[in-house]
Amino acid sequence: MTAPKKLFIKTYGCQMNVYDSERMAEELGAQGYSETKSVEDADMILLNTCHIREKAAEKVYSELGRFKKLKAAKPDLKIGVAGCVAQAEGQEIMRRQPLVDLVVGPQSYHRLPEMEAKARSGEKVLDTDFPEEDKFEKLKRRPKAPRGPSAFLTVQEGCDKFCAFCVVPYTRGAEVSRPVDRILTEARDLVERGVREITLLGQNVNAYHGAGPQGDMTLAQLIWELDKVDGLERIRFTTSHPNDMMDDLIEAHATCKKLMPYLHLPVQAGSDRILKRMNRSHTAESYLRLLERIRAARPDILISGDFIVGFPEETEADFQATLDLVEEVKYGTAYSFKYSTRPGTPAAERPQVDPAEADDRLQRLQALLTRQQREIQDSMVGREVGVLFEKPGREAGQMLGKSDYLHAVHVADCGRKAGDLARVRIVESRTNSLAGELID
Ligand code: 5AD
Ligand code: SF4
Repeated sequence: MTAPKKLFIKTYGCQMNVYDSERMAEELGAQGYSETKSVEDADMILLNTCHIREKAAEKVYSELGRFKKLKAAKPDLKIGVAGCVAQAEGQEIMRRQPLVDLVVGPQSYHRLPEMEAKARSGEKVLDTDFPEEDKFEKLKRRPKAPRGPSAFLTVQEGCDKFCAFCVVPYTRGAEVSRPVDRILTEARDLVERGVREITLLGQNVNAYHGAGPQGDMTLAQLIWELDKVDGLERIRFTTSHPNDMMDDLIEAHATCKKLMPYLHLPVQAGSDRILKRMNRSHTAESYLRLLERIRAARPDILISGDFIVGFPEETEADFQATLDLVEEVKYGTAYSFKYSTRPGTPAAERPQVDPAEADDRLQRLQALLTRQQREIQDSMVGREVGVLFEKPGREAGQMLGKSDYLHAVHVADCGRKAGDLARVRIVESRTNSLAGELID
């Protein structure tokens, strides 16, 4: 009998890549691969890459370079690149790094087994098509292995918004929603395997409009269907666009008990001039009014966001408008980035901001966001929150979990196991987590 082949997957970037890596591991699992955490043991190395910012792609190339010795010692080792760098660079990857055997774009993962077989026979294989067929439907059914309490589930992929800085519409393609019945089947399967919390994923998840039994359903309608799934206790979704924040979704935040009080709603910038140049089709004011309505529906909701500083032509006054908007919103968490030129996107051709100036702005924005994050985390002390326990902590008897607001919470002498939900009183705010006590 031949020994099972070993697969090493490294995932970069967003949560959708995490989900896709799981699917690829399952797909190759059916080809006799089992996963390994050690790159030295691998018969196949897959890098699931991200192209959203410059450094991500450069990291991939430097990582690939490090596999040279491994491949020299083990000529049968196959090296593959998946994800958005694969989509964007295509053949260029094999030209720049000849030790790569396989390049697969995000819409072609269901073709991996064939590709792997070809690579095994010594061919170089590339597939960066946007095929008509539904890749998720073609991916094999999941094995019934137990899962942790929290899982991602992709419901929508791609984007039609074409923000002037962003590669996603090019690497992930046009916006596509999965049908409701397939999502429900997958959700029930996850729950059977121990999942209690599902985060619905999509690049523009709130633009979801998947086919249901009586025509297309909105994200809110999908959430209400998931609400009926016994054993599923928590629902989250990410990432949302302000322009797709429909009334029924805002309403669901008020009335659906399983929908958690957390919303990732990127604004990117606070200056209307820059927002227009970014092709965002909302203003700072319309974003703030939208948040008012969301907070009226769910006053305790924690707001999270994404920001870009140093977008082409951004002046100090424009940047100040971003700081002003942040002051007004009060973000519970946020991700902020220095603008990075993405070849092929409209903003790449425009006059760029001085990098030192952009660095300085990023530092100032991050200082403000960190302060707000801290204040909101500290304000949890004394409050009662729901916690879903995920794993044991470092100390004996301690359990770690996530609050309704997605803060990390640990409870000493807990007596609960992974997958249990409990009411917890927060007693202390530490650097990156909260300490709590069970409420009997
Ligand atoms: N430069 C910097 N940040 C970017 N993002 C997307 N494209 C770029 C870019 N070219 C950020 C946006 C987006 C997040 C996922 O990444 O803030 O919301
Ligand atoms: Fe990119 Fe999001 Fe804009 Fe789509 S909405 S182009 S994914 S930043």
